[in-house]
Amino acid sequence: MEEDTVKRIGIIGVGEIGRAIVMGLRHGGDESPEVFLSPRGARAASELSEHYEGVQVCADNQEVVDRSELVIIAVRRQDRHDALAGVRVDDDKIVVNVMAGVGNDDLRQTLATDAPLARAIPLPTIRERRSVTVVYPSHPEVDSLFERLGGVLPVADEDAFNVCSALTGTLTTHYWYLATITSWAADHGIASEDADRYVRSLFQGVGRSLSDETRALHQLAADHETPNGNNERIRTTWFDPANSEALTSALDALLAELT
Ligand SMILES: NC(=O)c1ccc[n+]([C@@H]2O[C@H](COP(=O)([O-])OP(=O)(O)OC[C@H]3O[C@@H](n4cnc5c(N)ncnc54)[C@H](OP(=O)(O)O)[C@@H]3O)[C@@H](O)[C@H]2O)c1
Repeated sequence: MEEDTVKRIGIIGVGEIGRAIVMGLRHGGDESPEVFLSPRGARAASELSEHYEGVQVCADNQEVVDRSELVIIAVRRQDRHDALAGVRVDDDKIVVNVMAGVGNDDLRQTLATDAPLARAIPLPTIRERRSVTVVYPSHPEVDSLFERLGGVLPVADEDAFNVCSALTGTLTTHYWYLATITSWAADHGIASEDADRYVRSLFQGVGRSLSDETRALHQLAADHETPNGNNERIRTTWFDPANSEALTSALDALLAELT
């Protein structure tokens, strides 16, 4: 393992994202840290510990902290006080806060510790080491951890972190866009399963194009567009200035709440 790689990682809150992090840690087949899980969520924690070597469920959240060099707090924001009440975090630990909308000042007050705290935005695809994780502030061990799990993007300040956090709020809208055009096709006589299959195929192609980072996003759009063709028509008649403005206003409003 590299110098900045921690060897013992704790996770408090083993739900969707906690589980994805454990799977990501075990994905590469490389030398992997020991993992200590909170007893909740019980089912995911026991499944992970049965499935993976070196993953153990602790008796309580204090034991997770005590046995780890780096602790990831992955409970829902409203559960943080309950999960962390009375938990002592010595200053030589590193804490990674993945709770959306919970600033480091807030968490530091809850934990009453001088340990380094870093915020991070892991995404579910971290389970296959396929997503870049935004981090603030940059910290050698935290950056190294997420670099191994698909890539790290340390940002300059908490404002920049919140902008990235707002961006992650656009993902399900994208799925709804796909579901809406699929329903439209079904309403026009295409069998639902055929419409579903075809839309998935169209947009899997988009996903593959996105991995070509030599072309800017506007360039990718231009490359798919024939002048006066069908794509240009839908883009200019549906994604018109009013629609674009509505999207940026929604992002502005979300950012204001996150800040
Ligand atoms: N899901 C994502 O894509 C994503 C991405 C980035 C960040 N996040 C953040 O990650 C956090 C967790 O999200 P999630 O989607 O993973 O939620 P989730 O699936 O609901 O998982 C939360 C887990 O926390 C556990 N928990 C509740 N109280 C606890 C306590 N006192 N001690 C230990 N564990 C406790 C719950 O256990 P029980 O099942 O026993 O209630 C549950 O397993 C949230 O703050 C969210 O903002 C999520």
